[in-house]
Amino acid sequence: MDLSGRTIFISGATSAIGQAIATACADAGATLILCGRDAERLSQASSPLAEAVIERIVLDLADETGFADAVTSLYGRCQIHGFVHVAGLHEIAPLNLTGSDRLLRAIKVNAISGIELSRRLAHARLIDGSKGASHLFLSSVASHRAEAGLIAYSTAKAALVAAMRGLAVELAPKRVRVNALTLGWVNTPAAERTLAAMGQERAARYAARYPLGFGDVSDVADGALFLLSERSRWMTGTELVMDGGFLA
Ligand SMILES: NC(=O)c1ccc[n+]([C@@H]2O[C@H](COP(=O)([O-])OP(=O)(O)OC[C@H]3O[C@@H](n4cnc5c(N)ncnc54)[C@H](OP(=O)(O)O)[C@@H]3O)[C@@H](O)[C@H]2O)c1
Repeated sequence: MDLSGRTIFISGATSAIGQAIATACADAGATLILCGRDAERLSQASSPLAEAVIERIVLDLADETGFADAVTSLYGRCQIHGFVHVAGLHEIAPLNLTGSDRLLRAIKVNAISGIELSRRLAHARLIDGSKGASHLFLSSVASHRAEAGLIAYSTAKAALVAAMRGLAVELAPKRVRVNALTLGWVNTPAAERTLAAMGQERAARYAARYPLGFGDVSDVADGALFLLSERSRWMTGTELVMDGGFLA
């Protein structure tokens, strides 16, 4: 998959999945704009990719006040051929602790920030008329299948996917494709912490629901590269499910 001559903006670049996607994009020849909420963690995550990174953007995605300046600062400096919204908030809480504050926090980071960045990055001053762009939202099987403790997360990811369809329709005339990559369990430090908190018995029962086992960050990077590249040129407004058969 060739991404040479393309610039990809990645939120959540400090996460294991964000780093794997960034590395795969750089290996495919892309230049990168990496976004994270903590300057130190972002600098660490981007240092192995220094040759490909043209910009590091520090943004707290729970607070949209910085979005406009972050995006307008790119005008005239580059065009955006891909946006991957990897940032996400995965808090586990039972229903009686899932009040509107928790719901709003999850919806802001998982959904609203992705929608806001997508619409801003699709501005005419950032779109390459000849190549177009591909935007990609990371979702979860939790938006399709209930698990105890995940109401806020499931709601937020489902909202993100619903918005993705609308964005796909509205941005198609600008040659911006918008899709979701919906993931089952992927081995990352964050996921391993959640699995450890489940306890051995529940974790083993959960793992048994994956016919092909849990995924690896390289599986996700392969899916992301496909959706960012011209190989998926006729795809927009859809979900690519990568879940080792969990939803089958
Ligand atoms: N691992 C899985 O099994 C799995 C399954 C389905 C979907 N996903 C999705 O894949 C994505 C990455 O997950 P992961 O497992 O690699 O790791 P993760 O640690 O859950 O990744 C979360 C990322 O979002 C960033 N983030 C959280 N709150 C933020 C905020 N307020 N502002 C800016 N950035 C914020 C984090 O930045 P900091 O480094 O600053 O905390 C981190 O880069 C998430 O969207 C997750 O929902 C993962």
